[in-house]
Amino acid sequence: MSKKRKTPEELRSHRWYGVSDLRSFGHRSRTAQMGYSRADYAGKPVIAIVNTWSDINPCHSHFRTRAEEIKRGVWQAGGFPIEMPAISLSENFQKPTTMLYRNLLAMETEELLRSYPADGAVLMGGCDKTTPALMMGAISMNLPVVFFPAGAMLRGDWRGTTLGSGSDAWKYWAELRAGNISQSEWTEIENGIARSPGTCMTMGTAATMMSAVEALGFSLPGASSLPAVDSRSAQMATLAGRRIVEMVWEDLKPSDILSPAAVDNAITTVLALGGSTNAVIHLIAMARRAGIGIGLDRFDELSRRVPVLANLRPAGKYLMEDFCYAGGLQAFLNVLSPLLNLDCLTITGNPLRESIAGRSVHNADVIRTLENPFAPSGGLAILRGNLAPAGAVMKPIAAEPHLLHHAGPAIVFDGCVDMMARIDDPDLDVNADSVLVLRNAGPKGGPGMPEWGQLPIPKKLLEQGVRDMLRISDARMSGTSYGACVLHVAPESFVGGPLALLEEGDIVELDVTKRTLNMRVSDADLAQRRAAWRPAAAVYPRGYGALFSTHIQQANEGCDFDFLEGTAPIPDPEIH
Ligand code: FES
Repeated sequence: MSKKRKTPEELRSHRWYGVSDLRSFGHRSRTAQMGYSRADYAGKPVIAIVNTWSDINPCHSHFRTRAEEIKRGVWQAGGFPIEMPAISLSENFQKPTTMLYRNLLAMETEELLRSYPADGAVLMGGCDKTTPALMMGAISMNLPVVFFPAGAMLRGDWRGTTLGSGSDAWKYWAELRAGNISQSEWTEIENGIARSPGTCMTMGTAATMMSAVEALGFSLPGASSLPAVDSRSAQMATLAGRRIVEMVWEDLKPSDILSPAAVDNAITTVLALGGSTNAVIHLIAMARRAGIGIGLDRFDELSRRVPVLANLRPAGKYLMEDFCYAGGLQAFLNVLSPLLNLDCLTITGNPLRESIAGRSVHNADVIRTLENPFAPSGGLAILRGNLAPAGAVMKPIAAEPHLLHHAGPAIVFDGCVDMMARIDDPDLDVNADSVLVLRNAGPKGGPGMPEWGQLPIPKKLLEQGVRDMLRISDARMSGTSYGACVLHVAPESFVGGPLALLEEGDIVELDVTKRTLNMRVSDADLAQRRAAWRPAAAVYPRGYGALFSTHIQQANEGCDFDFLEGTAPIPDPEIH
């Protein structure tokens, strides 16, 4: 593409710094107060470095250093860096769920960029919701942006056994409950599973979304696969700082990069990675911020023709560190290229074709070929039926195959508290064919759609050797989780979706081949139950939670706030 390069007078920041009036006097004098002279910023692009560092986010604990490295690149390229902290969304610590706050960070990002003299931005994220949140805000603001991914932590280790974030926590927790490992062994695992800064190192939501954003064209080639502590990540930070300054002069904005074809590339990448089910919600929300109205059907269309090429946990064997050494995402995309739109523009200013050309795979067991995939399909499946008329999501490759076509009696939990109280009750009438159902865990019911969708296997079944069961909920599931978990059932039960009408003992039937999810209950019985159903009271009487509950949309719509979607223009602030 060829656009006219911007002049210094055309920079957005010129209105803060470059004119001669009372307000610009204030901006310049206050910049001087911070120790900068005019030569530091005059006529230069102002680059906001939106940093989601926090003392309570171990996935981003290297971001203070990385921010300095980004600044180095901005200075080198003739820009003026301004670091701006934003809410961190620490997946492990924030309750009830970071998903409650994804849209808050998206709003914060958009409004930070709008209200301050930013000409462009580097977005620093990685821990699960931070990536889509930063991108959603930046897409709406439509200033030049580079996404700088945190990168994954190093492999976990326990007595020489590799441990993967989340996946091995669930696995060994089940073994502890089954009495197969001791409490002291469990403590050893606790001390070995997270050994360095960086995100979860399985193909969980963090790695999935960092990869998706690179495939979408918003990160420098190769950035998303580098381990957080790799010195090449530090170099990549400086390169990001250099590149964003050029992007401002080139006026290369998200609207130049984000197209339906680019969104297809991101979805295809997620499917071929065997990525997180959460990506469905986030990619829909990101695309809709650009006015690209994708829905669940696009995921299902692509999932039928995209094989899983990555042999990564939780579905496969390896971890992100292995993926990096095997060639990383760029080599992966090169293998996947027959299924991608290679003309899509990226932040490099060039089409995707150019960055992936010649990138080779160094371990053919980690990154498989189209001819020898890890799985011929099954990255995701979109299900519909009288239990989920607006759709539900499943990751078939993470389930035991015999459960992909299954019918069994429902055991219904009315919420997480009910589930925790009853799941291990020795008198619970449950066997391996039962279908565990959790409701009131959706966007409004959770609220915030917590990651409760991998319902625990009842203890008495664990002791019998059962390790997977069909589980259904309107919740989400961690990208590091696995099992026959049907998620994101829409509409959710809290607003009266059919999941609210299911009763204990009803037969639930899943057929992944036909993409169906039904309860064997007659329409007449359902109508009777619907007439008797009454909505529960909202959880939050005031504050952000009340705003969230009023405006949050359903999972199949991306869980954005209704007032944030779309491309209606918002004027830049007047400077008086
Ligand atoms: Fe941050 Fe998993 S807890 S990425």
